Amino acid sequence: MILVDIDPIPPRPGAIAVNGDVSKEQTALEVSQAARSAFRSIHVLLNCAGRDLLAPLSATSIEQWDKIMDVNVKSVFLMSKYTVPLMSERGASIINVSSAAGISPIANRPAYIASKGAVIALTKALALDLAPSIRVNCICPGAVDTPLLHSSLHASPDYQAARNAVEARYPLARIARPEEIAGVAAFLASDAASYITGAAIPVDGGRSMA
Ligand SMILES: NC(=O)c1ccc[n+]([C@@H]2O[C@H](COP(=O)([O-])OP(=O)(O)OC[C@H]3O[C@@H](n4cnc5c(N)ncnc54)[C@H](O)[C@@H]3O)[C@@H](O)[C@H]2O)c1
Repeated sequence: MILVDIDPIPPRPGAIAVNGDVSKEQTALEVSQAARSAFRSIHVLLNCAGRDLLAPLSATSIEQWDKIMDVNVKSVFLMSKYTVPLMSERGASIINVSSAAGISPIANRPAYIASKGAVIALTKALALDLAPSIRVNCICPGAVDTPLLHSSLHASPDYQAARNAVEARYPLARIARPEEIAGVAAFLASDAASYITGAAIPVDGGRSMA
């Protein structure tokens, strides 16, 4: 978890890092304590950490289901719960990273897809509860060129064929670059998005419009 602010007290480089497991309450507590001592307030919370599980229902264990839910959903609850009391009243924003698969599912990932659908629902619930002081939105990326995607492609016997098959699902016919997701997060964090809350924004090359 990395916290960034432009107005730290006392003045010092505006970023601190806190190492921990986002599915644990202790981590959320440590992040909020670190933020409280380093910054006046928090303006933006980005919940991005996540894990994938490429497994059909029959191959998904109870432990795997719980782990996916803990890392992908409980973390958003915990980080929000401990961070909201520190959030500035002026234009604060929470941004969650869900997935296009949470809107329009893909095969063989029931636990992952359920977790990302839950992130969308939690985003909307918090948008209602925290309005009007805090905006809450989520981004729903399609396939993005990151280690998470690479590990799922490497699970296939032919990496390039698997990559081509993924790209073929997208009207824009390619996998996203990470900065194409980061740009939307920066927009949602900015005043340019001041009238957007409760939105689940697909950033998926057009896949989920069908
Ligand atoms: N890459 C994709 O194709 C894709 C598509 C849709 C959604 N997403 C979502 O985007 C987000 C970022 O994924 P990414 O593609 O950058 O994957 P990634 O695997 O490259 O990065 C995920 C990060 O989460 C961290 N993480 C995982 N479990 C954690 C835990 N318990 N505590 C703390 N940190 C933990 C990992 O250390 C890693 O740094 C995830 O929520 C993912 O579900 C990714």
